[in-house]
Amino acid sequence: MRAKGIPAEARAEAERLREELNYHVYRYYTLDDPVVSDAEYDEKYRRLSDLEADYPGLVTPDSPTQRVGPPPAAGFAPVSHRGRMLSLDNAFNQDELRAFADRVARGLGGRASTVAYVCELKMDGVAVALTYEEGLLTQGATRGDGETGEDITPNLRTVPAVPLRLLSASPPQLIEVIGEVYMPEASFQNLNKERLEKGEPVFANPRNAAAGSLRQLNPAVTASRSLSMVTFGVAYSTGDIPATHWDELDYLRELGFRLGEHNVRCATIDEAADFCAGWQEKRRELDYEIDGVVVKVDSRTQQAALGATSKSPRWAIAYKFPPEEKTTTVDDILVSVGRTGVLTPVAVMEPVFVGGSTVTHATLHNEDEVRRKDVRVGDTVIVRKAGDVIPEIVKVITDKRSGKERAFKMPGRCPVCNSKVEREEGEAATRCVNIACPAQTFGRIAHFAGRGVMDIDGLGEVTISMLLDRGFIGDVGDIFYVTPEQLYELPGFKEKSVDNLMKAIDAARDRPLWRLLYGLGIRHVGAHMAQVLAKRFPSIDAVSAASEDDLLTVEGVGPNIAESVVFFFDQQENMRVIEKLRRAGVRMADEARTRRKGGPLEGKTFVLTGALVGFTREQASDIIEELGGRVTSSVSKKTDYVLAGAEPGSKLDKAQALGVTVIDEAEFKRLTRT
Ligand code: IVH
Repeated sequence: MRAKGIPAEARAEAERLREELNYHVYRYYTLDDPVVSDAEYDEKYRRLSDLEADYPGLVTPDSPTQRVGPPPAAGFAPVSHRGRMLSLDNAFNQDELRAFADRVARGLGGRASTVAYVCELKMDGVAVALTYEEGLLTQGATRGDGETGEDITPNLRTVPAVPLRLLSASPPQLIEVIGEVYMPEASFQNLNKERLEKGEPVFANPRNAAAGSLRQLNPAVTASRSLSMVTFGVAYSTGDIPATHWDELDYLRELGFRLGEHNVRCATIDEAADFCAGWQEKRRELDYEIDGVVVKVDSRTQQAALGATSKSPRWAIAYKFPPEEKTTTVDDILVSVGRTGVLTPVAVMEPVFVGGSTVTHATLHNEDEVRRKDVRVGDTVIVRKAGDVIPEIVKVITDKRSGKERAFKMPGRCPVCNSKVEREEGEAATRCVNIACPAQTFGRIAHFAGRGVMDIDGLGEVTISMLLDRGFIGDVGDIFYVTPEQLYELPGFKEKSVDNLMKAIDAARDRPLWRLLYGLGIRHVGAHMAQVLAKRFPSIDAVSAASEDDLLTVEGVGPNIAESVVFFFDQQENMRVIEKLRRAGVRMADEARTRRKGGPLEGKTFVLTGALVGFTREQASDIIEELGGRVTSSVSKKTDYVLAGAEPGSKLDKAQALGVTVIDEAEFKRLTRT
């Protein structure tokens, strides 16, 4: 047996790490209240992975490393629910909510003088049932038709808010918990953005995205989807359940489950009605979608007395909000041209009030999306808007067609500069090929000056247009040569506004390198990628000198990104703009991190393993890089030094096998004079 060969210290350490890491997942995803930095978490996680790689016998099913497992062998197996998973009756207004309370009072035959209620926000996601045996998650299933669902255990294990093990020291022998898996609004937006870039169809709403993510055959895909979960009840337990729903929720919290964050207990139906009305107004403040409030009788004795119909319990009701969807008509489909030359079809609609604002335009993303949705000029469509989110056309009501609708055709020439447009094979986007296209120039400058990029306050779209029209600027480099005299020529500019804009432009000379990289508008280099590149390359010159192979050694950089970075710096026009920026005094490097040329570690490659005492791994990496060295993650013949801390992992063995120099912390300090 392999297990015999595991040293007791390794076993104890793995157990400690597992507990610590599970606790941190719980703090972060369930309580939304982390107590360690991401870097600390990553470090511990890496250590546990190393240990488990060295001693596979240490792997347990509740290890945080085991969230992504192998896919189910043959699709999703059917699961019979222990008790039927009921659905809920709906109330569409306050009168119907009160009618529900009347039914409850009658159902209790006047035996109850008061009925207390619990209100929970109704998450718009996918209902799931989780089974724990002896405290360990053994099965996770969809609701399905209420009787039979699908076994999606490997996928549910990847959702961080799903505990792999219950927190209790004496859990019931078997417990089945029900909850809702959902996708937060921001994750939904990001996912759709990525899918659009890859030419994949977008999800219509977060609920569809959550459902699609849970029904993946590869759990790694589910894991990448940022899903969360709230729980709202025990469907079955071999142990005792508290006497009220409110206490049942508390019990679930103690077991380590995440609850809805705004649950309340109401002494009367009036209070519950106020809660419903309140959230109907405030629903857009949430960073996830709700479609109503679930109102439940609190006492489980009363619940039992009320019972259920074949479809739904008589003790609960879903107070449904009016949908954030409206119908309107499409007056026209225009095509706008963005900073990368992409042509985007945009529907112009009869103004309609939806999701808190009046909507007149909805992006149709690209040619394929228009075709998929088959939106035509003159169509009646359903428009949806959630929160601050951009409105979108959910679908066409084809029944309302008269036959006079006009189908959309992507123009063969750029609507702004009349140049040729192209659609590359395998790409969803159609682009204007003229990089001097005024729409692209405008878009590039607006992006560069924008918030979160170079942050030039006061240089908005209107001002940029005026400067372009007068020929005062033609590219992003020109911004830094604009004079106060030129600004005075613009309508509306007075001493104060001129002064402010000049100061804002000056301040932008000193932005960190990543913002400049991001601002240049290199294809596939968004804010995150710009940060990754700036971390690895200390200056614009270093990035522009990097080959595709150099770029590919950076974690997170794939062939598309590497190619587009090299392509960007190969264009003379782009280099000319960079020189212009340099001459204007725009910062081209991150001083603090500039790798010292000719530093004592110039050209040396390090791998770190084990725990260090005097510094964190990040600090050690910073020191190495500042002295001209490089840190990589795996040991090879090209590695110059392996810095081994306490309890090093398998990397040490590999270093010894390859004859790579291994140094300890004391030697590292001597080497780096730190
Ligand atoms: S209780 C026996 N509570 O709404 C009653 N359901 O229309 C079981 N839902 O299938 C449901 N939030 O997907 C309950 N706080 C909540 C809920 C909730 C969302 C969903 C759930 C259920 C559907 C019923």
